[in-house]
Amino acid sequence: MGSHSATDTAPLVDSFGRVHKNLRISVTDRCNIRCFYCMPETVKFLPHKDILSFEEIARVVQVVAAAGVDRVRITGGEPLVRSQLDKLIAMIRAVDGIKDIAITTNAILLEEHAQRLKDAGLDRLNISLDTLDPKKFEKIARRKGLEKVLKGIAKAQAVGFKDIRLNTVALAGITETEIVPLALFARQHNLTLRFIEFMPLDGDQAWQTDQVINGESIREVIAGEVCELLPAHETVRSQPAVDFHYADGRGKVGFINSVSSPFCEACDRLRITADGRLRNCLFGTEEWNLIDALRSDANDQSVLEIIREGIMKKKAGHGTDDVQFKRPQRAMYQIGG
Ligand code: 5AD
Ligand code: SF4
Repeated sequence: MGSHSATDTAPLVDSFGRVHKNLRISVTDRCNIRCFYCMPETVKFLPHKDILSFEEIARVVQVVAAAGVDRVRITGGEPLVRSQLDKLIAMIRAVDGIKDIAITTNAILLEEHAQRLKDAGLDRLNISLDTLDPKKFEKIARRKGLEKVLKGIAKAQAVGFKDIRLNTVALAGITETEIVPLALFARQHNLTLRFIEFMPLDGDQAWQTDQVINGESIREVIAGEVCELLPAHETVRSQPAVDFHYADGRGKVGFINSVSSPFCEACDRLRITADGRLRNCLFGTEEWNLIDALRSDANDQSVLEIIREGIMKKKAGHGTDDVQFKRPQRAMYQIGG
């Protein structure tokens, strides 16, 4: 794993005083489905040689962990299409200081991988689920697969994963009819459902404000038709979801109101793309090249300095509500959510 020269251990602070403790790593831009809110129908994927190896990823984790990062989330594309992902989980698990490793997956391949992921030391799972209707699933994902997703969820619970979250992208004209069935399903299976407002990160660049359903209106539907909701007290500020408990004690539901109510002021995240670029924001337009440094004879301190530079340049907010807002060049599957 490269040279292990010592690095400085000061926290990763930006110019607004936000301390960065949360690393999101995209391990591939590939996916086995094609959700329209994320990917275009036809995609040109990165060649394998341009993708960070597990050793390169683990080195980045080690460098940032020494500077206080303690949580890692693996994303994609679809992370489970990357072969032997459990090996990477185990490598990250072995890094000093990492307290929590999570993954965001569409669960299509989860049934076959759940046990290995658990054994490798994965702590938590977020599973994308936008509908329980196979036809709607196919319309959104442009592929079949709902049955596999549901089997994947069941298997993950069977091998012992707890606190699994379901992510639902809130899409005007699609999600309205799905709110109640999804909420009932989540309650029945002990899963936490979270609605994420559709963000302008779709591969087709077709996003428009009127395609977003805001979290507040979904909360009203659930409170009216499923069960009364009480605000959860323990909401962690850097955690973007606003959580509610069902008044009857049967679980939680959360809302990631990234468009109607951005949570940038408490952001503690940094991101690495599959091709080894640091991004300081989902909506950032600038990237810092880490892969070239990792593949040169640069020592760990030089790698850390590139990361510090990227974090220092982080803006106050993403400004999707600003008329000056410029979409990032890359779509969700290329950044990693
Ligand atoms: N807006 C909001 N959420 C999105 N996701 C993907 N694209 C978008 C978008 N444009 C979500 C997926 C998944 C995670 C990777 O990000 O549902 O849960
Ligand atoms: Fe694949 Fe996830 Fe993008 Fe859907 S949202 S196309 S599952 S990467």
